[in-house]
Parts: sequence; C-alpha cells; structure tokens
Amino acid sequence: MPSPIRGLAVAALTTIALATAPAAAAPALADPAPQEHEADESVLVIGHRGASGYRPEHTLASYELAARMGADYIEPDLVTTADGVLVARHEPEIGGTTDVAEHPEFADRRTTKTIDGVEYTGWFTEDFTLAELKTLRAVERIPDIRQENTIYDGRFEVPTFEEVLDLRERLSKELGREIGVYPETKHPSYFASIDKPLEPALVDTLTDAGLNRPIAPVFVQSFETTNLRKLNDELRVPLVQLVGGSGAPADLEAIGDPRTYADLVTPAGLADIATYADGIGPDKNLVIGREADGSLGEPTSLVADAHAEDLLVHPYTFRNENEFLPADLRSGADDTAYGDIFAEYEAFFAAGVDGVFSDNPDTAVAARASR
Ligand code: G3P
Ligand code: CA
Repeated sequence: MPSPIRGLAVAALTTIALATAPAAAAPALADPAPQEHEADESVLVIGHRGASGYRPEHTLASYELAARMGADYIEPDLVTTADGVLVARHEPEIGGTTDVAEHPEFADRRTTKTIDGVEYTGWFTEDFTLAELKTLRAVERIPDIRQENTIYDGRFEVPTFEEVLDLRERLSKELGREIGVYPETKHPSYFASIDKPLEPALVDTLTDAGLNRPIAPVFVQSFETTNLRKLNDELRVPLVQLVGGSGAPADLEAIGDPRTYADLVTPAGLADIATYADGIGPDKNLVIGREADGSLGEPTSLVADAHAEDLLVHPYTFRNENEFLPADLRSGADDTAYGDIFAEYEAFFAAGVDGVFSDNPDTAVAARASR
C-alpha cells in the first residue's frame, strides 16, 4: 500500500526550507512563517530532463543547472545499455539526441525496431555497451526551437543513473538542501521483452545510494502500470503513475486490456491507482484543457478527484516557448519566442497542482515565489 505521501511531502519540504533558512532569519522564529514562504514550498518544481530549455536534455550539465536554478527535483528518463547499465535518455533510439550518426564505427548498428507497436529506425542504447555509449556526445533534440542550446552540442556525455545520483548528492551538500531525483522507467515492457528489464537495476541503484527508503527525495514514475504495481512491493519511495493525453498504457495494450489513460483518470481509475501509487503525472491538458481556438480553458475535476484519493498531481510539461503555450498566452508569431509562461503556471497553481515538470525550472521557481 502506498504511504500517505501527499501531506508528508509538503511537511518535509517545509522542514527542509526552515532548516536551510539563513541565520539572519533566527529572530523571527517566534513568528509564524511568512505566508509567501508556505505558498512557495507547496508546489514542487521538477527540472524536466534537467533544465532542458537551456542545455541539451538528460546531461549532467542540464541537471546541474536545474538544481542551481532552484528545482526541487531533477528528472532522468531511464533506458538500458547492452551490458545492463541504466542511462539517462528519453527513448532507446539515440539518433536524435546524440552524435551517433557521425560515428562511422557505429554505422552498422543502425537498424529498425518496433517498440510498443511503433517502428523506429536509428541506433538503440541496448545495442551499445556503456563504454561505447560514453564515446558519444549529446546534442540538442529540437535545434529549430532551441538554437541557443546547440552551442553545447558535442560537449556532454550520456550520463548513467548512478552518475545522476552522485551529482544529486554533491549538489545537495553544496546547495544546503536536498535535491530530489524523479526517475522514469521508459518502455519497461519493451525492455523486459528483450530480456533487459529496467526495474532490477533501478531498485539496486537506488538501494546502493541509500535512497530506497520512505521520504527519500525520490519519486519513481512510469507510463505503464504493471511495473509500478510490482515496484510498489520492491521500493519504499513514492510512485507516480504517468497519464498520457491520449492512448493507453503499453503494458495494458499488450495483454488486450481495453483500459485507456482516460479510464485511468476516472474516479474509479484513480482509486485503483491509489492502491499502488502516491501520485499521478498527467499531461497538463488533462488538468486544464484547451478551448477550440487553442486558448487555455477551465480546470477539469482531475485535481480534486486525485486529491480525494490522496494522490499528488504533477502535470507535464511546462515550457517557455510559444510553440508549447496556449494560443492566448503566445507572444507574436515566432514559435521559438517566449510567451506568457507565468500566466500558465499561475493558472495551474490556482487549479491546485502539487508540482510541475518544467523545461525551464527558473521560471517555475519564480512563478511560485511570486504567488
Ligand atoms: O515524466 C513526465 C514527463 O516527462 C513525461 O513525458 O515523454 O517527456 O518523458 P516525457
Ligand atoms: Ca519523463
């Protein structure tokens, strides 16, 4: 059974914040904490793929920048290598986020695979040893939108999960606050099907780092359901069921279970999630949808429905650029220009979310500080 993490998470954050308050604040101890301070700490800022709005995603540089910008958690997506090492990539195929295509020695690794019913052509982490992967360098995924990030192309390695945890520990000490880690198992059924399951290494790595314990600064997330139910028996940290804006969990589709993500977020679906998880990570459009003209709509009942089951709500993904914003919050016609991200955060904070996944953690931190 999941722990009643929702209240504990807020309490823990408040404790951390108070413990790290500057010495100059000591005379105010008899006074109640400032209201704005309580509001600031009530919404978690999760650095989505690090600070991927400013650095190529899933690199140590991206995670470090997120932490320095004030993110509470850094978010590695996890896949595996041929020799069973967890590494941080958004998907097994690495042609879009590394310079592998420029390595003639790996030209014969290019292949086509079907993952969760979708065909992909490229290079796949599970066909590379860690030593081979370490010869590659990360590149920006969306250079047309994030041209500034391309100046970092070729500078950073693909990090292992262990390296991410080491970074988390080092930065927690340096910054004087716990930097959390929010790992996601990517395509767990696929990796299990090729005899390279992600979960044993995930459990071992967290345990070895001393992080497999209640109230550790860890959330484990998945778009699939079966692996989370199993992890609930193996991990003592809170779990988060990711919910897509459409479609169905790949593990359910694979066994002919007709349930879709829409079914998962009905009151009955949320009650079921609450038997094995502590929160949901929904597509943000499930919290506040868009009107027909693309503008931001009204909140749905999802936050209230999830809270009724004591589930945290951490929607994804918040990004500064017009390309990703509701039509009424865009600024000009350039998709790469920044729009009114602060208005979007405020709408979601007002809807009662407990955290946000953001590619731009600095704007998320600033938005909650100004509440
Ligand atoms: O894990 C939250 C969010 O990251 C889910 O989407 O595809 O960016 O991993 P994705
Ligand atoms: Ca993710």
